Amino acid sequence: MDDKYIFITGGDRGIGRSIALRFAHGGFKVVYSYHRNLDAARETLRMIHDIGGEGFYIRMDVSDLDSVARGYKEVSKKVPYLNVLVNNAGVLSVGRIDDISIEEWNRVIGVNLTGVFLVTKTFLPLLRRAPWASIINIASIAGQTGNVVASTLYSASKAGVIGFTRRLAVELGPEGIRVNAVAPSFVETDMVREYIDTPEKRERIKNLHPLRDIAKPEDVAEAVYFLATPTSRFITGQVIGINGGRLTC
Ligand SMILES: NC(=O)c1ccc[n+]([C@@H]2O[C@H](COP(=O)([O-])OP(=O)(O)OC[C@H]3O[C@@H](n4cnc5c(N)ncnc54)[C@H](OP(=O)(O)O)[C@@H]3O)[C@@H](O)[C@H]2O)c1
Repeated sequence: MDDKYIFITGGDRGIGRSIALRFAHGGFKVVYSYHRNLDAARETLRMIHDIGGEGFYIRMDVSDLDSVARGYKEVSKKVPYLNVLVNNAGVLSVGRIDDISIEEWNRVIGVNLTGVFLVTKTFLPLLRRAPWASIINIASIAGQTGNVVASTLYSASKAGVIGFTRRLAVELGPEGIRVNAVAPSFVETDMVREYIDTPEKRERIKNLHPLRDIAKPEDVAEAVYFLATPTSRFITGQVIGINGGRLTC
């Protein structure tokens, strides 16, 4: 029971990749999923190996129950338990309410909120087998105060993740499984690249934050590592902002 295992959805790139590397560095065996980007999944594994870590990836669409069930089968054949589950996979949605179709609504809620439910419910048996376990959900400042570019749809999906986190912490607390979330503001990844790809745009986004900067994926990964591991053993049901002091939309 000395080995430590983590499963990260969307661990192939962006924030998920940083989390994968942080936990590999911390001695975890790292399992992660990608959706479409096999090249990124391979590259992340190469990076894990480069720092002396171990792991493997699977393909999974978090919004699809069958895909999640297949993923669980594959992972549970290879690992005895999971100490940490990170629900990281997500998609951005922008635009005003007038432009949000029901198809777009279902797609974004499907990945960002239903995906968190499906993966958590399906993978729970592996967490229950672990000597200690915790779940981290990647929410967003958009689910707390809104965010300048994100739509009401994206905000609603991430607010849902926060409610899910708070209630699940109460439910799983007696079993010793902690559940927390992080709520980043802008983080330098593909997701928001087009809003920070010129010096002028970067300046505008930096100025939204009292710390006058933009988060790096590593800033999120470090908070996730703290919240997921036993150093934070009495913290559950919390949402930690990674927002450079930003409190408004
Ligand atoms: N970047 C930000 O400013 C920011 C701020 C606050 C919160 N967040 C949240 O942080 C999380 C990670 O975002 P990121 O910035 O790292 O974004 P990213 O670079 O765009 O990566 C998104 C990840 O989600 C995966 N994914 C997308 N749709 C999926 C699906 N249907 N099933 C399974 N996986 C799927 C992608 O897989 P493929 O690579 O295979 O497509 C990729 O690994 C998201 O939940 C996002 O909402 C981001």
